[in-house]
Amino acid sequence: MEKLIVKGGTRLEGTIPTSGCKNAVLPIAVAAAILGDGVSVLHNVPNLTDVNTLCAVLEGLGATTKLKNSTLYIEPINHLEYEAPYELVRKMRASIYVLGPLVAKLGKAKVSFPGGCAIGPRPIDLHIRGLEHLGADVTVQQGYIYAQAERLTGTEMYLMGQHGPSVGATANIMMAATLAKGTTVIRGAAREAHISDLAHFLNAMGADIEGIGTSVLTIRGVKHLHGTEHSVISDDIEAGTFMVAGAITNGDVYVEGITERQLPAVSEKLVEAGVELDWDNNGVRVTTPRELRGIDVTTEPFPGFPTDMQAQIMGLLCLASGTSVISENVHTDRFIHAAELNRMGADIMLDGSKAVITGVSKLSGAPVMASDLRAGAVLVAAGMAAAGETVVSRVYHIDRGYESLEEKLNNIGANITRVND
Ligand code: UD1
Repeated sequence: MEKLIVKGGTRLEGTIPTSGCKNAVLPIAVAAAILGDGVSVLHNVPNLTDVNTLCAVLEGLGATTKLKNSTLYIEPINHLEYEAPYELVRKMRASIYVLGPLVAKLGKAKVSFPGGCAIGPRPIDLHIRGLEHLGADVTVQQGYIYAQAERLTGTEMYLMGQHGPSVGATANIMMAATLAKGTTVIRGAAREAHISDLAHFLNAMGADIEGIGTSVLTIRGVKHLHGTEHSVISDDIEAGTFMVAGAITNGDVYVEGITERQLPAVSEKLVEAGVELDWDNNGVRVTTPRELRGIDVTTEPFPGFPTDMQAQIMGLLCLASGTSVISENVHTDRFIHAAELNRMGADIMLDGSKAVITGVSKLSGAPVMASDLRAGAVLVAAGMAAAGETVVSRVYHIDRGYESLEEKLNNIGANITRVND
């Protein structure tokens, strides 16, 4: 298994580019492969394990995919299979995105029930409830979700769960509703930029979706969707990670290819902690002219502070003066990285869905383990700021969602080497 050796005490300086948004590509590729009647060409697609895993799922259903130079060609399925087996779905929870589109297109689907993961149990009741609202008959047997409906029928539904809107359920039901009979109104829809990007893509395929970017989506069903060409938005979480990496190394970094409206809460919180951000049309310059100070952060659905940036801001706050409190309201037990940061000399105490961080003056390198994608990113960032050497294992988590992470960071002053065990 591969590891990253991060030499600490480096300062990042220079321009770092942002890749395409993983969480946008995944549902867009599903829509292109299952709902479209012709070839789609997607630009700005990152070369990530998650994207390759999804392509394998789509190939398993009968599609043809080819990713080259950030462009993903998808030839949809002529003879569509309706079953997504456990061996493929278990590799990535986002495979659940095939459920709604398969029922919409074929009238039936058999998709392996996704398992839990390192950031909690992650139910899919809202995906199932949404499909039932559209008239599908859904049962769970022997680890599989079976759904069928001759033709889905538009309706009004409230799709909010106990932790707020669901990105995945909104995407799944929105995709299904594009081919339903009549009009569907989803209230309590997720408003993340990647949901809007998916909606714009579906409209370019011939769908009729209104209310994009708001919590009420109105989808008028159409009979067919065609292939199209689309450039995927840039990855807000990757850009946010680079902003934290710049700040934690006391660097001077220009994060290219991101806009302030994609990261409103992250920008606000970084500034509150003492980081200076200078935005222009194409990115942001990140500097840290003064000592960092502790702040309180609560994760929420967009436009609130994203749970996918919680680990990274925790790493930064380890080195801020005073006490910080992070409340994790989306994935309430997503804190495995706290113990790893403590191994590097941080002072983090967990109390249910809260983490209390007392700032320390320095971190020291240690062997640590990435427990999920974003946890992996914070360990690399903390390793760059720490004294000595940090060895991050389980790098495959990082490769799921960061394209060429060490190359990009090394280009602006990091010292990170990938080694095989
Ligand atoms: C997506 C992102 C993930 C991010 C998360 C929250 C992708 C591929 N992944 O995950 O990186 O951390 O959004 O921004 O885009 N919930 C239910 N029932 C459901 C579905 C979700 O109760 O049927 C709960 C979840 O447990 C969680 C909250 O709703 O507490 C939000 O989850 P959701 O937005 O669905 O996350 P994902 O789409 O899985």
